[in-house]
Amino acid sequence: MEANIDEIAEGIYRLSVHVPDIAPPTGFTFNHFLLRGEEPLLFHTGLRRMFPIVRDAVARLIPPDTLRWIAFGHYEADECGAMNEWLAVAAQAQVAHGQTGCMVSLNDMADRPPRVLEDGARIDLGRGLSVRYVDTPHIPHGWDAGVLMEEGTGTLLCGDLFTQLGGGAALTTGDIVGPAIAAEDLFHFSSLHPGMGATIRRLAGLAPDRLALMHGPAFEGDGASALRALADDYERRIAATVAGLARPAAT
Ligand SMILES: [Fe+2]
Ligand SMILES: [Fe+2]
Repeated sequence: MEANIDEIAEGIYRLSVHVPDIAPPTGFTFNHFLLRGEEPLLFHTGLRRMFPIVRDAVARLIPPDTLRWIAFGHYEADECGAMNEWLAVAAQAQVAHGQTGCMVSLNDMADRPPRVLEDGARIDLGRGLSVRYVDTPHIPHGWDAGVLMEEGTGTLLCGDLFTQLGGGAALTTGDIVGPAIAAEDLFHFSSLHPGMGATIRRLAGLAPDRLALMHGPAFEGDGASALRALADDYERRIAATVAGLARPAAT
């Protein structure tokens, strides 16, 4: 198995592994993003057992031991399972994540102390790339959830938001909201709660030109509209769930 590599924005590379055995017949994709600044950053380490595949893909772009930053959306195997493998390979590398993730998991689970990112904290990677950390607790799941906005290219590294099934093109300008709704219907992977729409609309306020999905193609276009449409659907879903709970039980 090998990762497909595509440059989805200047200096941002999508390392994509399609696994046909998950959710057949379409399969399921795991994407890792290398931001090739002077201080390279990897967003999503990949599963621990996928480490050789992701390392070999990174090695086609930079010497793996020069990796400087390891970041991810939340503490979960596909996001950060290979975190310590990367810390072992790259002596300068440091995990960077929000306060909750560091407190709850990473201060203990990472082999070297992480850098704690406050909401809105920025890391300048050099070569025109810089990332801003945005806390999104429980969105779409995980108390420690957060995203990174790369401000030079306007690319939102949005993790599990817009998760969809299947492989296919690295970049799309088509609809990503419909496939995300279908995946939510199938997996129920999101933590529905009342603040969901507001948090996702806050991301829309960043007006991203590109959305880098962890599970799906990268989207190029009006990212704010896509985020608002996703927020609308979650609010519809939450309202329907609450209405169902309020209905008197059948006797
Ligand atoms: Fe996740
Ligand atoms: Fe994920």
